[in-house]
Amino acid sequence: MKRIGMLTSGGDCQALNATMRGVVKGLYEFFDKVEIYGFLEGYKGLMYGNYKLLHADDFSGILTKGGTILGSSRQPFKLMTVPDENGLDKVKAMKDTYKKLKLDCLVVLGGNGSQKTANLLSEEGLNVIGLPKTIDNDLWGTDLTFGFQSAVDIATSAIDCIHTTAASHGRVFIVEIMGHKVGHITLHAGIAGGADVVLIPEIPYDIKKVVKALDARAKSGKRFSIIAVAEGAISKEVAKLSKKERKARMENYPYPSVAYEIADHIKATGGAEVRIAVPGHTQRGGSPCPFDRVLSSRFGAKAAELIKQEKFGELVVFLNNKVTSIPLSESAGKLKYVSPDDDIVKEAKTLGICFGD
Ligand code: F6P
Repeated sequence: MKRIGMLTSGGDCQALNATMRGVVKGLYEFFDKVEIYGFLEGYKGLMYGNYKLLHADDFSGILTKGGTILGSSRQPFKLMTVPDENGLDKVKAMKDTYKKLKLDCLVVLGGNGSQKTANLLSEEGLNVIGLPKTIDNDLWGTDLTFGFQSAVDIATSAIDCIHTTAASHGRVFIVEIMGHKVGHITLHAGIAGGADVVLIPEIPYDIKKVVKALDARAKSGKRFSIIAVAEGAISKEVAKLSKKERKARMENYPYPSVAYEIADHIKATGGAEVRIAVPGHTQRGGSPCPFDRVLSSRFGAKAAELIKQEKFGELVVFLNNKVTSIPLSESAGKLKYVSPDDDIVKEAKTLGICFGD
């Protein structure tokens, strides 16, 4: 008998259900008897003992279903060692639940912060396997996370739709794409959607260079332009500020988001009519794209294999076109950023995309 706990933690994304289905299918393939404990709303379920005993049937028909059948919540890593409002020691509580249920392994579907907690629990002696979730694709140690490609598809569709209306009206359109710290989705959707300007957090922009690129397009006879901007994009001036100064700036920030700030600057230079489109959480919703269904199913199968091999404390990853695993401790606490030196950035520049740098 194998007793496996599973939870989905942090911001949701497409293919969480597909991944869990993959894990469970693999477990039933490898073991005669399996008990699956699904913890509700991420680590909260493990802390407070909120779980459901699930059966193979619960994972049937969910390959294409968005969201997560377990629910999710954000439980910041830095608060894990801070007692809750009733003085509960969260780490101890999670270990107690694990022990009470006599689990053989805990499977954590989560992004950067969630995998840090997974690593902490592993260091505390629990058998843990991590699965790399996030639309942002910023988990260190894996070339791809599940959810990323689906989000890129949605962000690209948004740019495609904007393209036709921007062309009809001869407008500058700013499409704001998810990614507070990293610009992977914006970069990929920007290239896929034929954006003229791509602005990401890792490459601070000079607004004058952005305006220059728009002017050059207008002078060459193009009636419209599209800017794909990551929600965390920053100007060169802001990049120079200290963490404290940036915080103070955000406290008095007069715009709903960066797209509005950029729009204001462009409008101030006169000329172009500017509009903004923010696809927001649609990028995390709906059915996973076929690529993510394949990737997440493979990730799930790999997790089951690791459980069979009793190889714990590992994060399942996609590296050099292979599904494999690395120690959780190797990835914990590191983000995978876009580098200005990445081939994809250089190629995008060769295609004429302006990064405002
Ligand atoms: O981590 C995924 C993500 O979608 C980011 O791209 C985005 O900045 C953030 O989550 C939004 O978080 P929330 O759903 O809590 O508003």
